[in-house]
Amino acid sequence: MDMLVVRGGHPLRGTVAVGGAKNAALPIMAASLVASGTTVLHGVPDLVDVTTLSHVLRSLGAHVERRGDAALAITVVDQQPCLADYELVRRMRASVCVLGPLLGRRRRACVSLPGGCNIGHRPIDLHLKGLRALGAEITIERGYVFAKAERLQGADIYLGGSFGSTVTGTCNVMSAAILAEGTTTISAAACEPEVVDLGNLLNAMGARIEGLGTPLLRIEGVNELHAVEHTVIPDRIEAATLLVAAAITRGELTIQNVCAAHLAAVTDLLRATGVQIEFQGSTAKIRSTRAPQPVDVTALPYPGVPTDVQAQLTALLALADGISVVTDKVFPDRFMHIPELMRMGAGIRREGASAIISGTPRLSGACVMASDLRASAALLLAALAAEGESVIRRVYHLDRGYERLEQKLNLVGADIRRVTDTAENIPESLLLSMDDPSAPSIDSSDTPPPPKFLKHAEARSSAIREQ
Ligand code: EPU
Repeated sequence: MDMLVVRGGHPLRGTVAVGGAKNAALPIMAASLVASGTTVLHGVPDLVDVTTLSHVLRSLGAHVERRGDAALAITVVDQQPCLADYELVRRMRASVCVLGPLLGRRRRACVSLPGGCNIGHRPIDLHLKGLRALGAEITIERGYVFAKAERLQGADIYLGGSFGSTVTGTCNVMSAAILAEGTTTISAAACEPEVVDLGNLLNAMGARIEGLGTPLLRIEGVNELHAVEHTVIPDRIEAATLLVAAAITRGELTIQNVCAAHLAAVTDLLRATGVQIEFQGSTAKIRSTRAPQPVDVTALPYPGVPTDVQAQLTALLALADGISVVTDKVFPDRFMHIPELMRMGAGIRREGASAIISGTPRLSGACVMASDLRASAALLLAALAAEGESVIRRVYHLDRGYERLEQKLNLVGADIRRVTDTAENIPESLLLSMDDPSAPSIDSSDTPPPPKFLKHAEARSSAIREQ
């Protein structure tokens, strides 16, 4: 297992490019199952999640081949397999995106239910509701969704839930409805750019979907689809993460391959914190010179601030000059990063779906543990801004969704080392002991150890526990 050792305090300066969007690439890869011929996808990032889904597709009869750095060629050679196994699906819940394409094209699917998730409760009831409305018979047995349909019939489907629309649910129902008989309408459809990108790919393959990017989709079923070449949209979450990296280090970045429209909510919010951002075509320039102003943030479905940037914004606002409130209405429990940010000196109190952040002028490097993909990005950003060295452990979460993030950041001035997660690799500066001259003095045996000492002692014992 790897960990990142970060020496904070370097303002980022220079030019960095964003890759293709993970959350567009995954449902698009799954949708290649509906077409005959070879689907060629450009701008597919080289991520662990992409590799995992490639394995799922291979197990479903597809030939998947990397072409160069960022292209993927997918050819279905066997239409018979219908089983997406637990061993693969449990590694990445987006594997559930094969459910709609399989049902649409092969009329049957057996897909493992993904199971628990560190960002909160993530049912797929809306996916199943939509597919049932199209005529699929669905049962859940032995941890798997069994779905079959002699024929799929267009229907009027309301896909909203208690937390708004569903992104991969909309992808699944849309990917099945394109091959149903007659007309389907999906209301309360997700409007995320990644859903639009999938819809554009399907339309290029011969599907007839109208209303992409709005909550009302109208789909005329067709009989067959043919493979096409497609370029995946830029990753707006990676772009937002890089914008926050510039803001939190008080640096100046030129970020290439961004779509300004997809970033409107994040840009608006960052400007309110005091940074300057300008767009020229597909390039963003951001400059930050001072501590962020506090702002209130609510993560919402698109076009609101994405939940996938909530943790990174929380890290930024931990350094704000005042109190901010961050609320997540999409995943109200997505706050595992809070205790880790607090280890770095952040003042955060959780109240239900909100984090009340009392900004502090400085964070202090610490040993922290990543709990999920965006939490790891938030911890890395905080470490870039913190005084001294930090260690970010369980960094495999980061590798699931960011392509070579530490390399990109190092090229613009960060100091990040990837090392094997062993006790020997924890930097000396994080391993304080009682006789360390820099440790706070303890006058009497009755006095409890000061928090600073405890923090370092914990870092060491947690390193040893992990061995
Ligand atoms: N929900 C239900 N029932 C469902 C589906 C969803 O109640 O059947 C609820 C969820 O529990 C959640 C809300 O609806 O509260 C939204 O969930 P959604 O289905 O939209 O999420 P998802 O499709 O499973 C995608 C992204 C996530 C991103 C969310 C929200 C992919 C592969 N994943 O997940 O990305 O956070 O949309 O925008 O597209 C990430 O990249 O780090 C990530 C977690």
